[in-house]
Amino acid sequence: MIKQETIQAILDTANIEEVVGDFVSLKKRGANLIGLCPFHNEKTPSFTVSPAKGIYKCFGCGKAGNAVHFIMEHEHYSYYDALKYLAAKYKIPVIETERTPEEIQLDNDKDRLFNINAFVQKYFTDNLLNTEAGQAIGLSYFKKRGFNDATINTFQLGYSIDSFNALIDYCHKNGYKDDILAKSGLAVVHDDGKMFDRFRGRVMFPIHNLTGRVIGFGGRILTSDKNTAKYLNSPESDIYHKSDTLYGIYLAKNSIVSKNFCYLVEGYMDMITMYQAGFTNVVASSGTSLTTNQIRLIKRFTNNITIIYDGDAAGIKASLRGIDMVLSEGLNVKIILLPEPEDPDSFIKNNRTSDVIDYFENKPRDFIRFKTELLLNDAKDDPIKKAEVIKDIIASIAVIPDEIYRAMYIKECSDLLGVKEQSVIFEVNKIIRKKLGKKYNDPDIEVHDNSTQQPLTQEEQDIEKNNSFDIYERAIIEKLFLYGDIQSNYNLGAENEAQTLSNAEFIINELDAEGIEFNNQLYSRILNIYRDNLHNGFIPGQRYFINNADREISTLAANLISTPYSLSEKWKENHIFPRMETDDIPSTIIKTLLSFKSAFIKRLRAEIQEKLKNAEDSKEMEDLLETDKQYKQVEINIDSLLNRTISY
Ligand code: GTP
Ligand code: MN
Repeated sequence: MIKQETIQAILDTANIEEVVGDFVSLKKRGANLIGLCPFHNEKTPSFTVSPAKGIYKCFGCGKAGNAVHFIMEHEHYSYYDALKYLAAKYKIPVIETERTPEEIQLDNDKDRLFNINAFVQKYFTDNLLNTEAGQAIGLSYFKKRGFNDATINTFQLGYSIDSFNALIDYCHKNGYKDDILAKSGLAVVHDDGKMFDRFRGRVMFPIHNLTGRVIGFGGRILTSDKNTAKYLNSPESDIYHKSDTLYGIYLAKNSIVSKNFCYLVEGYMDMITMYQAGFTNVVASSGTSLTTNQIRLIKRFTNNITIIYDGDAAGIKASLRGIDMVLSEGLNVKIILLPEPEDPDSFIKNNRTSDVIDYFENKPRDFIRFKTELLLNDAKDDPIKKAEVIKDIIASIAVIPDEIYRAMYIKECSDLLGVKEQSVIFEVNKIIRKKLGKKYNDPDIEVHDNSTQQPLTQEEQDIEKNNSFDIYERAIIEKLFLYGDIQSNYNLGAENEAQTLSNAEFIINELDAEGIEFNNQLYSRILNIYRDNLHNGFIPGQRYFINNADREISTLAANLISTPYSLSEKWKENHIFPRMETDDIPSTIIKTLLSFKSAFIKRLRAEIQEKLKNAEDSKEMEDLLETDKQYKQVEINIDSLLNRTISY
């Protein structure tokens, strides 16, 4: 890790205007700079940079953050790499934190693993291009499969000599020790301690991480020996985690971003052939079923994924389950089914390029249509099977997090299956509610399948209520960010004497006096940051949040702190001054707090109404009514205060 002082020096030095300016052409507009957003397609600029606040924000796509975030977002760097980039740009010496011996050991091991993999990749490539066996067996195989020189070079392909010790000997000669040969999996250690080359007589595919370093290998056998596995892969190591890796992502990532979708295929061969044919936004799952981490890897670059299935893939139905997982991560899924018996590799080779392009452009179907047709075709006219299909499809729709997409699929599904839209909605909501109930382990969220009254709506209303309640909490956080560290005069107590205190203190005191906790996890975390710091006599300001190491917090801060318009000079010249909330910060804040409290108390009362419906006995009912009476009085008080503040 980089030392906090260094991070601070980087944040203090990095000039947002220069950092962004390296990638985006910016024009001055009032106190801000504007330009075309590099994160989405636009013709009129809505990307704003505020040098004073040190932040950027796009009012089109909502991306926002500080200089470090810009580099992370634009270059797809990790936090660490983005800091390094800025340190290099501003020639700031990077001091790393002292590490424990274990950490140093792990880092050393990782370095040694990267090192040996890079070394061996060159060795394999050298074998392929410059040895007799490599050329005769390996290179001719790749040529036969249609790979050109550029492709072989780009993918750093290679060949492992058919020998039990060629690689080990070569590595020994170059100073690599047994332990790292074993850890990298390049050598297999037998029970008696003897070591052998893992890869023998195979064409080699190095596997790269996101920054292009070799983390492992896949090797394909050249004979059609049914007793030997066609592919052999490096085992898991400190740098190679299969479930976090997608083959080809390093080469494909920029193309995935610029085309804003990603092809997913199964095999190494498929990925490379697609890439060579110009479909460069492609990655391979390497024959295993997709993991959540792999999906999140794709999600760093796009939300759209097009899965290409072999025409004869027996496992399509099994893999449909995988799609549900992709859907639940919020990705939009399309499917291309190839004509039997092609796979992407053979399909490209057996067809004219224009036909392939045509097929890839016109054949993608959204998953729901694909799945429905596939399953319905199976069910034929069997009504029981058909009911199963409907259930299955509905389960898929229910995992989609985005409501709008869900609604779209519900409509499509009802058309396709000939089921009333209302019934599909009912079933989908039922599943969602069941899941919510489980998640919160809340006995109140029980599903009564046989209930005849509209059992869904109340639940939906609750979810809805929580969402809309969010905006009141968010408004308070916004005021904290904007004005928290500014001092204001507040009239407190019965004597009505004015007291000067920071707006943050005022807000936190007001909330704590009523024992209010925020519902939203993120907002609640931010309140606690204020509480802790105020307790220690420090008032965190805008920079503190904008530059927060927690990305969720810094993004929120950049979003809430940026304002779309700076007052135009013309207005000022013409002496037109719109009334602004900064004119009277205390009353702005009081208004925000009152609105929150009003919403809060209304929610409490709604909860009581709910409990009343299910009250078991008259005692419970009386208690509830008594509480409600008190709440009602509070509500009246708050609302009348609120009306007074608004009208003034
Ligand atoms: P070709 O058969 O040469 O066209 O290769 P391919 O990449 O098209 O392979 P295929 O479609 O048969 O399999 C898809 C992927 O599954 C491969 O790229 C490998 O990543 C993986 N795979 C296939 N066979 C094996 C195997 O025997 N062992 C392991 N570990 N992985 C395999
Ligand atoms: Mn193949």
